[in-house]
Amino acid sequence: MKGFSDIRQSEHFELRISPPFMWLRVRDGFPPCRFGRPEVLKASWREFDSNGWQIVFRDELQGGKRLISNDGNNLKDYTEEVNALLPQEPQQLYALESQRLVRRFGKETKSYGPFLKASPGTITAIMGGSGTGKSVFLKMLCGYDVPSAELYSGGREMPVSKDAVKICGETGEDGFRHLGYVPQGDVMYPELTTSQSLRYRMRLQFGTMLTEADMEQCVRHVCMELLNLDEKTIRKQIGQMDWLGEYPSGGQRRRINIAHELVLEPRVLILDEPTSGLSSKDSEDLMESLELLAKRKQICIVMTIHQPSDRMFRKIDDLLLLVRGGRLAYYGRRDLALSWLQMSPPLDGEQVEKSANEAETIVNMIDVKSAAERYSTLFEQFLTQNGGAPTKYNG
Ligand SMILES: Nc1ncnc2c1ncn2[C@@H]1O[C@H](COP(=O)(O)OP(=O)(O)O)[C@@H](O)[C@H]1O
Ligand SMILES: [Mg+2]
Repeated sequence: MKGFSDIRQSEHFELRISPPFMWLRVRDGFPPCRFGRPEVLKASWREFDSNGWQIVFRDELQGGKRLISNDGNNLKDYTEEVNALLPQEPQQLYALESQRLVRRFGKETKSYGPFLKASPGTITAIMGGSGTGKSVFLKMLCGYDVPSAELYSGGREMPVSKDAVKICGETGEDGFRHLGYVPQGDVMYPELTTSQSLRYRMRLQFGTMLTEADMEQCVRHVCMELLNLDEKTIRKQIGQMDWLGEYPSGGQRRRINIAHELVLEPRVLILDEPTSGLSSKDSEDLMESLELLAKRKQICIVMTIHQPSDRMFRKIDDLLLLVRGGRLAYYGRRDLALSWLQMSPPLDGEQVEKSANEAETIVNMIDVKSAAERYSTLFEQFLTQNGGAPTKYNG
C-alpha cells in the first residue's frame, strides 16, 4: 500500500509503519484486545478498511507495551508476538524535517537557511518582524513554493534535493499527504453550512471511500470534540447572518478554517498567523485548542505568531526566530530562547524597548538592526560548532 514504508505480518497481526506512527491491526473476529496503557490512541475512523482488517491502535513507534486479548472467558497475552514485529531500535523521528532552505526572488534573498526538525505532538512557533520571511518559509515547507537552494555549512549552496522537506519520513506527494496548511485568509464557501463544506472537502479528497455516516461522525468529532464548536455553528451557513444577526465570530471562523484541514486527518498542521485579528480571549482559546490537537492527536503543529500573551507563549515547545533577509536568529527550545539572546546583550546605543511580556521582549531584542546581524551570526557559530548540520538549541 502506498505510503507505508514498512509492513510486517505474523499469525494474528499486521504492523504497518509509517513514521512517526504505526498501526497495529488484527484480522476481523479476533477477540477484543488492548494495550497496557490507558491513554493509547484509538484507531480513527479512516483506518478501518474493507479487507477484513481491524485496527487495534495507532501510536508513536515504541515497544514495551503488553497486548492482552479478552474473548469473554480467557485473557491471552500476545505481547511476545507483537514485540517480535516491532522495530528493534526506536528511531529519532521527526514529523516535519527540512534542510536549510534558501529562497530568492530575483536578487533579493527572502529566506536564508531556516530549517525545521519538529516532533509529533509538539508546537513550534515562528516569530520575527514583518517581512522577515515567515510566510515564505511556511510556503516552502507546504510545497506551495519551491526553495531556490539548500544551504550547507560554510555558506555552501546546493541544488534543491528530494529530501529538502520530509513529512513523516516521506518526501514529495507522499509526504504532503500528511500535511494540512491553514493560510492566513479564509478558504471557505459562504453558501454552505460548516457541515456541508466539510463533507464537500472530504468527498473531494476521499471520493466514495467514506459513507455519509463516516463523514458525519468525522465532522462531529473534529468540530465538537477537537475544536470546541457547538452543534448550532456546524449547521449554520458560513457566510450568512442567522436570525440574531450573528455571523460566526472571528474565533469560530478560524476554527472552521482549521476544521477543513483536520477532517483530512493531517499529522502535521501548518498555520500562518492563526491568532492574528482575534481578540486576546479568542486567541488564547484557539491556542488551547491547538495544544489539545498536539497533545491528544499527536499532531505536529507549526505556526507563525505575533505578540502571544505569556500564557499562550508557554504552550509553545520550540521557537524559531527570523530576522531580516530570512536569516535564522534562533531555533530551539522556547524556554531557553531568552537566555540564549541574553548571552549577547544589547550594545551601547542600541535601544531595546522594555516589555513585561516575554515574547515581546524577545522580538524587541532581535528587531534592532545591528542586533539582527549579531544574533544570526551567533546562531551560525552555534551550528558550526555542531558540525554545521541543522541542529536545534537544546541548552
Ligand atoms: N512571491 C513573491 N515574490 C516576490 N517577493 C515576495 C514574494 N513573496 C514574498 N515576497 C517578499 O518576501 C519578503 C518576506 O515575505 P513574508 O514571508 O510574507 O514575510 P512575513 O515574515 O511578514 O510573513 C517580503 O519582503 C515580501 O515582499
Ligand atoms: Mg506572513
